[in-house]
Amino acid sequence: MADNRCRSSSPEFDPLAFDEGLTPLPEYKTARTTALDFSGLLDKPVKLHEDLKSGCGGQLWPAGMVLAKHMLRYHRDELQRARILELGAGGGIVGLTVAKGCSLSSPLYLTDQLEMEELMQHNITLNGLDGQVKAKILNWGEPLSPEIAEYKPNIILAADCVYFEPAFPLLMKTLQDLIELCPSVVVYFCFKKRRRADMQFLKAAKKAFQVTEVEDEDRPVFSREGLFLYTFSRKQ
Ligand SMILES: C[S@@+](CC[C@H](N)C(=O)[O-])C[C@H]1O[C@@H](n2cnc3c(N)ncnc32)[C@H](O)[C@@H]1O
Repeated sequence: MADNRCRSSSPEFDPLAFDEGLTPLPEYKTARTTALDFSGLLDKPVKLHEDLKSGCGGQLWPAGMVLAKHMLRYHRDELQRARILELGAGGGIVGLTVAKGCSLSSPLYLTDQLEMEELMQHNITLNGLDGQVKAKILNWGEPLSPEIAEYKPNIILAADCVYFEPAFPLLMKTLQDLIELCPSVVVYFCFKKRRRADMQFLKAAKKAFQVTEVEDEDRPVFSREGLFLYTFSRKQ
């Protein structure tokens, strides 16, 4: 399912389409390249080219920033030996930060829809991570490719993937498939609540998975901004 919702025709980018349940999405910006070291957690900054021409994933989103920093600060050791896949990676902020900050022993997959493939690949090359990070198409709700099925990722990263209600069942299906594929998998799931419906996704996740709120010293700050950080794992 192609999601072009973040392009100019989107009601969420129309200031007149504001209602009480709707917090505005980030504003359109011109293309640019940003370097981030996450308060010194990265020796060499990760470089991110942002360009919205391919869709809303082309810019940095708040949950991506929170999750990238969380993974660097608390999970470096386990990530080094993990098989990692990022869902809805956009420009790849979370996966690229992890690859930059950890010596990964297996390739990391950035995944998104076809429209984002070029930007993911651009950012992989920009960071000198060709070979260590792969850009792949993974449309939520569709069967996992043989390559991913064989890889059996055991860490899934998902940031700001809850923003478009019609895609919730598709995202849920992909999460279920990934959790089925590798029973020990841990999904790090960070999202910003923008409208009431976003919490319906969490409700559905709590029915399907073991959902745990994750410790983070920045929680007081990001909670105030409506950001949530959880792990999903297989129900015992
Ligand atoms: C809001 S952006 C978040 C990008 C990035 N994770 C971040 O935090 O900066 C959501 C991403 O999900 C992707 N996405 C939306 N619907 C999708 C679908 N059905 N299948 C796969 N990816 C999808 C979009 O292309 C977009 O890159």
